[in-house]
Amino acid sequence: MSKFMEWVDARFPATKMWEDHLSKYYAPKNFNVLYFFGSLALLVLVNQILTGIWLTMSFEPSAEGAFASVEYIMRDVEYGWILRYLHSTGASAFFVVVYLHMFRGILYGSYQKPRELVWIFGMMIYLALMAEAFMGYLLPWGQMSYWGAQVIISLFGAIPVIGGDLTQWIRGDYLISGITLNRFFALHVIALPIVILGLVVLHILALHEVGSNNPLGVDIKKTKDEAGVPLDGIPFHPYYTVKDIVGVVVFLFVFCAVVFFFPEMGGYFLEKPNFEEANALKTPEHIAPVWYFTPYYAILRAVPDKLLGVIAMGGAIAVLFVLPWLDRSPVKSMRYKGWMSKVALVVFCISFIILGVLGVLSPTPERTLVSRICTAIYFGYFILMPFYTKIEKTKVVPQRVDG
Ligand code: HEM
Repeated sequence: MSKFMEWVDARFPATKMWEDHLSKYYAPKNFNVLYFFGSLALLVLVNQILTGIWLTMSFEPSAEGAFASVEYIMRDVEYGWILRYLHSTGASAFFVVVYLHMFRGILYGSYQKPRELVWIFGMMIYLALMAEAFMGYLLPWGQMSYWGAQVIISLFGAIPVIGGDLTQWIRGDYLISGITLNRFFALHVIALPIVILGLVVLHILALHEVGSNNPLGVDIKKTKDEAGVPLDGIPFHPYYTVKDIVGVVVFLFVFCAVVFFFPEMGGYFLEKPNFEEANALKTPEHIAPVWYFTPYYAILRAVPDKLLGVIAMGGAIAVLFVLPWLDRSPVKSMRYKGWMSKVALVVFCISFIILGVLGVLSPTPERTLVSRICTAIYFGYFILMPFYTKIEKTKVVPQRVDG
């Protein structure tokens, strides 16, 4: 075996890559449960790709055949139902995992110098993931697929001058049709997965260049032994590869429980109108996107003007890209930040969840008022960040992980 590896290593840096990224990648020894979600995102990504490949074998990307082919997968294709439920539940699981992964980044200031690019690549993944989920949702050609896409694509129509032409260009037709379905299929099964995979590689390479942060925000590279190994670091393999198995097992318990017992999740993972075939002549009574988009949908509806609403929705995502430059705190982790950052984060998270709930419900004057308040809090959190992170009193960060 060692002779074989010598042969390979002389031609390809296999051992070097293994050592750089696993057996000699020193990660802080104090990772907590929130650090499971990076590996879990990788796991869900693999699940989506594998189940997606098998679904594609029986799916028909045409307006005439798409809905029926999904029914065929559910009833006639062997194990088709489990492939579909693994994929549809996987989409929601992806967002659960990614939202918790991002929350960890915000909680421990993992986006701060020198990890700005790790964060930026992460945000690009998040954007690509939203596009991937949106396009995937059109494919079963149900009522919500059709009308959800109709609402979102028509938003581009709010852009002055080019809006009308742009929506037509995206649809490839005067209305959402089989042509739209076909191009969304191409983008969903090949173009975006390639982009996402590429970005994940860049994300991890950028992280491994600077090293991982940790719940304390202590820089473990400051204290190294004679061999240059961080004193508070442990090799990723075997320590975290084995520890991550615990996270994977717990995750799979929950994931399988959903796949086997609540695949529709009360209409949140698979919406009820989507069990009816798309009909361009029949608008559903209430159109709402899937839960992971609803905070932004609520922001869109909170603004009375369509163009301004689109700008607010885009701005809500765009502002996350510049987060590393909004946080002016000298410390990373929330544990050492002042009370203002802590209160701001709690209020921000609550209003993000409220926006998510409001985005599912049909609007009433009271709900619109609440969504306006929560939208103001959402933006206030970021716009005021340079000030409250600068003026608040922070605690001293210890030199070492053990204090
Ligand atoms: C397909 C989606 C993603 C995958 C597979 C992924 C994978 C990973 C992995 C394996 C790690 C190292 C382990 C860990 O810290 O949990 C990591 C770290 C990180 N990720 Fe992601 N990630 C994804 C999306 C995102 C997104 C959307 C963001 C934020 C916008 C993000 C921000 C970060 C940050 C800041 C770190 C460094 C954390 C630290 O060192 O404390 N990631 N990611």
